[in-house]
Amino acid sequence: MAMLCMDFPRELGLTGRLNARYEQRTPLGEPRYTGSKPEIKKFMRTILVIGADRGIGEALCVELQARGDAVVAACLKDSPALRALGVEVVSGVDVTSASAIAALASRLAGRRLDVLIHVAGVVFEAKLGHFDYDAITTEYAVNALGPLRVTEALLGSLGEGSKIAIITSRVGSLGENMSGGLYGYRMSKAAANMGAICLAHDLKPRGIAVMALHPGSVRTEMTRGLTNAAVGPLIEPIDAARGLLARIDELNLDATGSFRHANGAVLPW
Ligand SMILES: NC(=O)c1ccc[n+]([C@@H]2O[C@H](COP(=O)([O-])OP(=O)(O)OC[C@H]3O[C@@H](n4cnc5c(N)ncnc54)[C@H](OP(=O)(O)O)[C@@H]3O)[C@@H](O)[C@H]2O)c1
Repeated sequence: MAMLCMDFPRELGLTGRLNARYEQRTPLGEPRYTGSKPEIKKFMRTILVIGADRGIGEALCVELQARGDAVVAACLKDSPALRALGVEVVSGVDVTSASAIAALASRLAGRRLDVLIHVAGVVFEAKLGHFDYDAITTEYAVNALGPLRVTEALLGSLGEGSKIAIITSRVGSLGENMSGGLYGYRMSKAAANMGAICLAHDLKPRGIAVMALHPGSVRTEMTRGLTNAAVGPLIEPIDAARGLLARIDELNLDATGSFRHANGAVLPW
């Protein structure tokens, strides 16, 4: 993993404990926030990434931490690498487990989430005549029901101005399916897209915007396990993360319910 160094707020001068002023800088060394610790905290956005152990989720956390946001990385297992960067890591967050998600919600109770990013996903190859229905059921449980289960449990932490990004995939697009294959993955991602639209409708009155996003074809464990034909040229996770964050930064209530590529293209459902 690329280790980007995060500048924590550092004290400016010896001003004494009560009046201490802090400065937080960007990775390029430019001042980002200056003020007392409580003042700085007010400006920092809190962003929860679900599925942060590796791949795109991990890269999102690295990039967000470098930007100076308060990042909570929810991992199925754990991430010593993110902990070492100062990211708050919550381990044991299985999006298929009601009790694990309830535990996450109670840990976050009382904290506002500015952005919730669903990244957790699984894929299994599926060839007609050789379907493994248990594997397809798992894809549905993680990819389609996971974002719903987590969002529903965390509604109390989301409010006016919060954003929800669901990393689905363009292979879940009905309109763009020109090759077939990957049945369970495609079907679960199409269902996740539908979940994103339903959430966008339900949450718009509460001022919460929702978007489905395709990260591009990204070099991760997921694509390593697929045949070349299913993948194509790959970009690095950190580049996908930067594109995804640019789209999430742009997201507002006017664009709620949209499906975008990390490169900015609007995708067909
Ligand atoms: N890579 C691509 O080209 C591509 C393209 C389109 C869409 N996507 C989507 O982007 C997302 C991230 O993909 P990736 O390429 O970064 O995949 P990845 O490297 O395989 O990472 C998947 C992540 O999901 C976690 N996860 C799996 N099952 C989970 C569960 N039940 N609960 C919580 N977390 C779980 C994994 O945890 P562990 O590490 O502990 O197993 C891992 O952190 C996925 O939703 C994927 O479908 C990827």
